Amino acid sequence: MYKESVKVLRKIDWYEKFLSPLKKYFDNTKEIIMPILFKTRNLHIFGVHKIASMSLSLKEIKQPVEADLKQFDQHFRNAMKSNVALLDTITYYIVHSKGKQIRPLFVFLSAKLFGDINEASQDAAAFIEILHTATLVHDDVVDEANKRRGFFSINALWKNKVAVLVGDFLFAKGFLMALENDQFQLIKIVSNAIKEMSEGEVLQIEKARKLDINEEIYYDIIRQKTASLIAAACAAGASTTTKDPETIEKMRLFGEYIGIAFQIKDDLFDYGESDIGKPTGIDIKEKKMTLPLIHVLHKADRSKKRWIMNIIKKYNNDKKKVRELVSYVKENGGLSYAQDALNDYRERALEILMTLNPSPARDSIEKLVAFVISRNK
Ligand code: IPE
Ligand code: IPE
Ligand code: MG
Ligand code: MG
Repeated sequence: MYKESVKVLRKIDWYEKFLSPLKKYFDNTKEIIMPILFKTRNLHIFGVHKIASMSLSLKEIKQPVEADLKQFDQHFRNAMKSNVALLDTITYYIVHSKGKQIRPLFVFLSAKLFGDINEASQDAAAFIEILHTATLVHDDVVDEANKRRGFFSINALWKNKVAVLVGDFLFAKGFLMALENDQFQLIKIVSNAIKEMSEGEVLQIEKARKLDINEEIYYDIIRQKTASLIAAACAAGASTTTKDPETIEKMRLFGEYIGIAFQIKDDLFDYGESDIGKPTGIDIKEKKMTLPLIHVLHKADRSKKRWIMNIIKKYNNDKKKVRELVSYVKENGGLSYAQDALNDYRERALEILMTLNPSPARDSIEKLVAFVISRNK
């Protein structure tokens, strides 16, 4: 198995580029092989079809801004450079385990709606994806998640202390890049999003402790922790091609609605069994109550409510009891309720989009909305 994986890695030219520089930080090479095994498995054995079919539709959406995304990759990579070898290794690891990059896509398409993509659009895309990356690195520490994007998470490989510092480093590098290019409008839009994301994450922890969440608070949490950055991506993108404050605000609100739909979808994944490259079935364990559960709890009679709360409070680590609760949520329409809510936010976003002049960029962003709703990871 070990030898096999090294063979695969050699073949895909990752051994020299990827594994060798990592070696000096590990006593045991197998520690490094494992995350790569995850990926090679995904790519070569199990997930080929799934990944290919998903990337096909995303690929189609990305096509009108393909050249810009290529330039983005370079910009993103350069902005994270460090002279500290371990940081450079970790950012190399990050670059090679990239996600769907939907936020830069929202930046570019929002820019394209009102003019030509330019250097400022590039700065906005790089800044926002760096911040997104930083928040994920931190989020995996907070959630004690060991998997991200089909690889081991940074905290799983290098431990929490390194992950916290890498996240901070990324935040600082993002700001420095924006400052070097005098992107003050961008910094303004994004700083607000960072504040909101931190508030959303902490509010979520507060509610997991007190367990006094309701639908309204759920929406506050996801608006802050997730939608704020997608809103910032759309507003920042638009602000690089139009100066009209009303238009920029319109795009911010569009992004907010899509971001809410995006997180509802993400919360639905947690109830599923498919491989999405990160852990599933951990929300109840973490006492994180999301829309499907909040809805069935609200509907339940008093004794059922007590049963549900008791599992969340005392039996959140009991796999059998958690499975029972998950079944209850499914049988009582929790998932379809969340799906309806998701569709509602998609409609709200599309309504805003339809007030804009028709253009190829508008068509692409409409497809991106459809992707966010129907994505399988
Ligand atoms: C994951 O975002 C974090 C959430 C806000 C749910 P993405 O699903 O966009 O993550 P990557 O960048 O594609 O991995
Ligand atoms: C999303 O939170 C990450 C942030 C918005 C910081 P989650 O914890 O719900 O997302 P995943 O499932 O880890 O990507
Ligand atoms: Mg998480
Ligand atoms: Mg989290």
